[in-house]
Amino acid sequence: MNKFVFLTDTHYWTDAPKDYGAPKMLTKGREIHDAIPPAVNALDPDFVVHGGDFLCGGSSFDLPTDIFEHSIRDVRETFDRLSSPFYPIPGNHDCDAQTWKFDAFNAAFDVPDLLSVDEVASDLRIVRANVFLGDTKEYGSGEWTDDHDARLREIDGQLTVAGLPALFFLHTWILPDALPEEGAEGRGCVSGSRQLLDTISQCPSIVAVFTGHRHVNRITAYRDFLIVDTACLIGYPFGFREVTLSDDGWFSTTFHRLEVPDTMAAYRERDDAGEDAEWEGQPHDCDSGVLIPRLQEIRG
Ligand SMILES: [Fe+2]
Ligand SMILES: [Fe+2]
Repeated sequence: MNKFVFLTDTHYWTDAPKDYGAPKMLTKGREIHDAIPPAVNALDPDFVVHGGDFLCGGSSFDLPTDIFEHSIRDVRETFDRLSSPFYPIPGNHDCDAQTWKFDAFNAAFDVPDLLSVDEVASDLRIVRANVFLGDTKEYGSGEWTDDHDARLREIDGQLTVAGLPALFFLHTWILPDALPEEGAEGRGCVSGSRQLLDTISQCPSIVAVFTGHRHVNRITAYRDFLIVDTACLIGYPFGFREVTLSDDGWFSTTFHRLEVPDTMAAYRERDDAGEDAEWEGQPHDCDSGVLIPRLQEIRG
């Protein structure tokens, strides 16, 4: 059995001047970040993965470089308080808004160059993708390239020979929630998402895909694997996933909400708070137990 935590889109801005669009509550970043380590550590997970967008760089916020770099130091301090091994991936808001470079973020966090494989347990691997290696200003949802594709197929071949399952993590979505226009990607989907979906369909070691970015909870059984999208921590529903994988192929997840009473009260006072269900998803997108055929096949 494996037990881990997946959290994403923490969007920290030291002393943010305003909250920005719902469900984000950027002015409450300190209360939220102080609540994360104790809530995660209480679960004693084997490991923790962050799905990216630690910060408020890149587009939309126009953060000055000195405040961006100050925010990185604060965020690093927060995640240093986790007791379990910690595995980050970059999001589109983790680059400097003035230069669009990830250098400062990459210096603080051990992020993959293209794809990395980590041995998180003797019977489980994680594959972390960096889809922000090109022009993030132009491709805000990142790019899945032929280099990524070839490397993933190579990794899958090795894992399949070894009889090991893997979880795949990238920041942006791979499965659209509405039919995209001709030639376009679905909203929030990585450029090249169709190719990536096809490739994962042909890579039997990948038993589940985890994403963030859209700040929405959604769990989809796709062919014989799962796609697990997760809401943000900086805004409603202020939560993260605890996930277990059983020895006979079952995936279970519980969505844990942070105890942030001041933040929740302030969120409730927003006149643009909107529909909560839009962000938290349906009940089975928060808490769910699903048999993954690929995992059952490998572990059965
Ligand atoms: Fe985000
Ligand atoms: Fe994002």
